[in-house]
Amino acid sequence: MAATKKILMLPGDGIGPEVMTEVRRVADWLSDKRGLGFEIEEALVGGAAIDAEGAPVSDATVAKAMAADAVLLGAVGGEKWDSLPFAQKPERGLLRLRKDMELFANLRPALVFDPLVEASSLKPELVSGLDIMIVRELTGGIYFGDPRGIEDMPDGQRRGINTQVYTTSEIRRVAAVAFELARKRSNRVCSVEKSNVMESGVLWREEVTKLHGEQYSDVELSHMYADNCAMQLVRRPKQFDVIVTDNLFGDILSDEAAMMTGSLGMLPSASLGGADASGRRKALYEPVHGSAPDITGQGIANPLATLLSFAMMLRYSFDLGAEAGMVEQAAQNVLARGLRTADIAQEGTTRVSTQEMGRALLEELHHSVV
Ligand code: IPM
Ligand code: MG
Repeated sequence: MAATKKILMLPGDGIGPEVMTEVRRVADWLSDKRGLGFEIEEALVGGAAIDAEGAPVSDATVAKAMAADAVLLGAVGGEKWDSLPFAQKPERGLLRLRKDMELFANLRPALVFDPLVEASSLKPELVSGLDIMIVRELTGGIYFGDPRGIEDMPDGQRRGINTQVYTTSEIRRVAAVAFELARKRSNRVCSVEKSNVMESGVLWREEVTKLHGEQYSDVELSHMYADNCAMQLVRRPKQFDVIVTDNLFGDILSDEAAMMTGSLGMLPSASLGGADASGRRKALYEPVHGSAPDITGQGIANPLATLLSFAMMLRYSFDLGAEAGMVEQAAQNVLARGLRTADIAQEGTTRVSTQEMGRALLEELHHSVV
């Protein structure tokens, strides 16, 4: 019997609980059929936590997340909480988890599944076979820099302030993750910043270059300004292998890369912390998409991004590459069968609900073990 693996599921808001229900089914099934020994607990985050517990994430839930072997999060946010003061918004729950767990490396793969080539907003020949990994710095930069706030000025105007700030170690640790990943892929890293206008970008470029020279000179390193990268991503996306960039640019570029895969509903992500003495990393997995209030409650959300996030958990947190592959293959197979949730529906395919998609995935998994 495998050692117990503690998973904390945080469904959150909007479509979060809908997609998580389907992923939970897959997780329970796998745990049972493959003897993986998952111990799954659920807790609240985001608006759901604000309503029930008075904060976007409670101290108790943060403690559970710290103690878990891995966390799977659905989505946070919604109109109901939009007018709350900044520090109390649902998004702060997610940001606190990232910060408290020190999840500095956010891995966002943009992978185009063959059956979905036509669903991309780009021409098929540009995206067919696309496989990019965006490594986004997640606990620093302008998201967390001080000073921040909105202040009154003597002349009656107001001033909004945020600070972009990075230290040597913050840059080096995330760059190291990118270089390590590249070695297992096509061995190329493109580091992205705005060193033409920002000092933090100059430092970013210098530190990445230095680390590369010291430890990773076998990896091909290039540099690009963030605006050019945004352009190159839609011009010739297959030129990229691993992109490493800061928190804000990574937020933006990963949404852009997501659209190439056909839908935000397809993109998973992993947020990893530093390795402890035993090599174990704190980790939180979540889809790149948000809570999608426009389709909440209709049962049409795409569960694949959360499912593929769960597959990343199997691979990165539990070293269960075979099982991760099974889950990814099941996703491929249902797409190849022509099953599509609304976001990726095309002519000639069968439109299915969130639940039907979940059921089809379980069928595929079932076939793969018998
Ligand atoms: C993301 C999201 C978050 C971010 C929001 C929900 C705080 O857009 O994970 O990309 O900006 O980091
Ligand atoms: Mg984002």
